[in-house]
Amino acid sequence: MKNKSLIILAIETSCDETAAAVLRMDSPKSSKHILPKVKTLSSVIKSQIKLHSKMGGVVPEAAARAHIKNISPVVEKALQATPYSLQTIDYIAVTAGPGLIPSLIVGVEFAKALSLATGKPLLPINHMAGHLYSSFARLQTTNYKLQALFPMVSLIVSGGHTLLILMKDIKTYKIIGRTVDDAAGEAFDKVARLLGLPYPGGPEVSKLAKQATAPIAFPRPMIHSKDYNFSFSGLKTAILYYLRDNPLTAKNYNLKANVCAGFQNAAIDVLVTKTMRAAKEYKARSISISGGVSANTMLRKALAEAAENFNINFFSPPPGLSTDNAEMIGLAAAYHLHNGGKPTPFAKVKADPNWSL
Ligand code: KG4
Ligand code: ZN
Repeated sequence: MKNKSLIILAIETSCDETAAAVLRMDSPKSSKHILPKVKTLSSVIKSQIKLHSKMGGVVPEAAARAHIKNISPVVEKALQATPYSLQTIDYIAVTAGPGLIPSLIVGVEFAKALSLATGKPLLPINHMAGHLYSSFARLQTTNYKLQALFPMVSLIVSGGHTLLILMKDIKTYKIIGRTVDDAAGEAFDKVARLLGLPYPGGPEVSKLAKQATAPIAFPRPMIHSKDYNFSFSGLKTAILYYLRDNPLTAKNYNLKANVCAGFQNAAIDVLVTKTMRAAKEYKARSISISGGVSANTMLRKALAEAAENFNINFFSPPPGLSTDNAEMIGLAAAYHLHNGGKPTPFAKVKADPNWSL
């Protein structure tokens, strides 16, 4: 029997990117042991970085206004790049949380309006589930036998969250660790601000770190704690004090690079050490990384090498899918359907800024 193709329009507005994507899923008939085949037909991202970098961070109301302005053209552009229209898609997936409420509302209400007008069913998607499944994107995965992939330990490092997840199988997962204060991306952004670098800080800090001559040794908070939680605010404070005692001057340009590299080394050390400890304890067959900070090449490399040393699989999002996008929301929606999930009735679809994974 021929497998059925499903077309998903996905919308993401949880923070400062207005994004839409169209994906096609071919779910195999005997789907239990095989990952679904998902193809991205189009993906459009309208970034607000310019708007927020002036303010040194995301201003929620300004973000919402920009989403309102951009959402319609972004969705239209994503559809126009495919042979599909609002009438011929099968589902509308939208990020419903967690995130900034003024931003989330724009996407959710836009998706609901489209659903009302077309009768297409809605799939509210958790933004962190989007990140989680993004590391499976574009894998020609039908060759992977699922039992060979799990258990999987997944590290999600974004601007708002740092989570360590244990995936028992493709649809059963639980949080085993999280940050007790700042998220990893937030720490990159705050350190960048201390150094006078623009928002978002992650790419700036990692770029400058490459020029370091003598990375500074900073503490590795909670690296030895028995749990799988993380803490980054102490590291940021250590840098604040270091800069108070060693002020940046025009002459010591290297200091900035050395602080960046020192911070990055400390953050990566903690993230990799704890992820690998969890992998060992849970006898993981794979580890994965996702979220905006997974765009960091040093972090990816360190985790990939650690996985190789353990002789286990390593998955990470393809380029462009680490930071926020709608493709990952469509992917999470596809896995939701593949795993037997159903659409949510219109009246129950709501933006929830604190929706936990
Ligand atoms: O996942 P994401 O796009 O948005 C949230 O869901 O929060 O993550 C954004 C975060 C920002 O904090 C940004 O500084 C960080 O990801 N980031 C990076 C890099 N690229 C983005 N952090 C470190 N290295 C990078 N190359
Ligand atoms: Zn995100």
